[in-house]
Amino acid sequence: MNEQQRKEMNQINQANPADIKSDQEENLDRLKNIDSDELIGKYFQTTYEPPNLKKAKKRRREDVKIHYDYQVPEDMANIGKDKKFLIRTYGCQMNEHDTEVMAGLLTDMGYQSTDNAQEADIILLNTCAIRENAENKVFGEIGHLKTLKTENPDVILGVCGCMSQEESVVNRILKKHPFIDMIFGTHNIHRLPQLLKEAMFGKEMVVEVWSKEGDIIENLPKVRKGKIKGWVNIMYGCDKFCTYCIVPYTRGKERSRRPEDIIQEVRQLAAQGYKEVTLLGQNVNAYGKDLTDIEYGLGDLMDEISKIDIPRVRFTTSHPRDFDDRLIEVLAKGGNLLDHIHLPVQSGSSEVLRVMARRYTRERYLELVDKIRTAMPNATLTTDIIVGFPNETDEQFEETLSLVEEVGFESAYTFIYSPREGTPAARWEDNIPMEVKKERLQRLNKLINKQSAEAMKKYEGQTVKVLVEGESKKNPDVLAGYTERNKLVNFKAPTSAIGKIVEVKITNAKTWSLDGEMVEDAVEVK
Ligand code: SAH
Ligand code: SF4
Ligand code: F3S
Repeated sequence: MNEQQRKEMNQINQANPADIKSDQEENLDRLKNIDSDELIGKYFQTTYEPPNLKKAKKRRREDVKIHYDYQVPEDMANIGKDKKFLIRTYGCQMNEHDTEVMAGLLTDMGYQSTDNAQEADIILLNTCAIRENAENKVFGEIGHLKTLKTENPDVILGVCGCMSQEESVVNRILKKHPFIDMIFGTHNIHRLPQLLKEAMFGKEMVVEVWSKEGDIIENLPKVRKGKIKGWVNIMYGCDKFCTYCIVPYTRGKERSRRPEDIIQEVRQLAAQGYKEVTLLGQNVNAYGKDLTDIEYGLGDLMDEISKIDIPRVRFTTSHPRDFDDRLIEVLAKGGNLLDHIHLPVQSGSSEVLRVMARRYTRERYLELVDKIRTAMPNATLTTDIIVGFPNETDEQFEETLSLVEEVGFESAYTFIYSPREGTPAARWEDNIPMEVKKERLQRLNKLINKQSAEAMKKYEGQTVKVLVEGESKKNPDVLAGYTERNKLVNFKAPTSAIGKIVEVKITNAKTWSLDGEMVEDAVEVK
C-alpha cells in the first residue's frame, strides 16, 4: 500500500456511517439545485465522446493493451462485509456476462447477492441500448428506484451497461434523476471498486464513461449464474457499423482475446464440471483479425476448443460476411461443436441489406446457407430480422418472407426498426407507419411460428440428447433442458438428472418446445 492508499484507507476506516448518510443527503439536495450543464461539463465531457461514425472508423488502427494484473484494491476488499448487492440485467448475453463479472467484483469486496431490492445496499442497472423500448424499461425502473432512495438514502444506485455510453442518456440522468449515485460505461467495469468508493465517500454523482476502448482486462473475477452452462467472451466490440446499430459505439472497437487465454478459461470451466460453453462476441466471425502477430481465426479457435473435454460448445453471434470456409470445415467435424448456427440475416432484400451496410446480398447469404448445409446436412439455422427499416417497400418485405421460407429458419428474433441516435440510419426519415411495421412483424412472426412448429413436429418419436438445466418454470415436477440444436424439452425425471446429458424420447411437439420421457433413469450420455 502506498502513502496515498494508506491515507484513503484511514479515511474510510474513520468515516462515521452517520456522516456518510448526511453526505449523501447533502449530495441529493445539492444535485436538485445544480445547473446540470455545469455538472455535465465538469464530470462528463472530459471522458466521453458521442457516437461519431468517421472518428469511430479510424479507431481500428489503435493498439490493444491486455492487462493481466487485476486485483481488487486492498482498501475495498472488505467494504461489502454484511452488505448485499442486486444487479438487474437488461441486455444480450454479453451484457449478462458483464453482470457475472460485476457480481465477481462485488463478491471480492465482501458483498453478497440478493434478489430483494429492499434489502440491497447497492443496486446496479446493467442496461441495453439496442432499441428504444429497452431504454424505456430502464427509465421506468429508475423512476421506481427514486422511492427506494427516499426511503433508504444509504443505498447506492448505479447505471452501467450500453445506455451509459450514450451522451443523451447521461444528460437525462444528470438532469432528471440526480439521486443516481454512479454512472459507468462498458469500458469501466473493472473500475467498479474505485467508482464505488467514490460514490460512497464522495459528494458528487460519479460519472466515468470512457470512449477510449483499447484495452482488454484479463483475470477479472466472475460469479457465474449457473454451474452447467458458461459464457466465455472471445472478443469485444464491433467494427461492422451496420447503419441502424448502436453497438459499435457502446461497445467500442473489435478486440480479440488471446487464444491461450480463451482456451485456459474453457479448460477451467470443463474442470469445474460445466457441460456447455458459449463463445461470445458481437461479431465472432471477425475473431482474430486484430491479432497482428498470428494468422488465427474463429475456425482455428473452434478446432482447438473441440479438443477440450467439455460436451457442448456453441458460439454467438455470427455475421454472414466473415463466415469463412475454414470455420465450416471445422464445424462439420462435429464432436462437441454443435450443429446449430445463429446467422442473423436482417432482411431478404439486397437493396435493404445495402442500405443497412450489411455487406452481403440475398444471393451471397443463400450461397453461404448452401455451403453450410452441404457440409452439415442436419444443421439448424436461426436468425434475427428487422422490419420497417426506412423506405422498406411491401415488395422488399415480401422478399424477407420468401427468404425465411427458402432457408427454413427454425426460429428467429424479429424486431421493429427503432432509430438510435448517432447512427447513420437515424438521420433518415423513419417513414414506415407504425401500423405497417406492426402488420409486417405479425406476418413474419406467423410464418416463423409455422416453421418452428413444423421443425418441432419432426422430433415426435425421436430420441434426443438433453442437457438438463433444472425444473421447468411452469411446473416444478417437470425438468427442462435443451437439445444439441437448442430445442427446449420438458420431461418428467428425478432431480438427480439435473446437470447431466440424458436421452429423452419425444412424445409431443409444441410450437416452441417438446415434451418427452427420459429413456434411462439419470444415465448420462455424451
Ligand atoms: N451482432 C449481432 C446482433 C446484435 S443486436 C449481429 O450482427 O447479428 C441483436 C439484434 O438486434 C440484431 O441482429 C438486429 O436484428 C436487432 N437490432 C439492432 N439494432 C436495431 C435497431 N436499431 N432497431 C431494431 N432492431 C435492431
Ligand atoms: Fe450491430 Fe451486429 Fe451490425 Fe455489429 S454486426 S453493427 S453488433 S448488427
Ligand atoms: Fe444491448 Fe449492448 Fe447487448 S446495446 S444488445 S446490451 S451489446
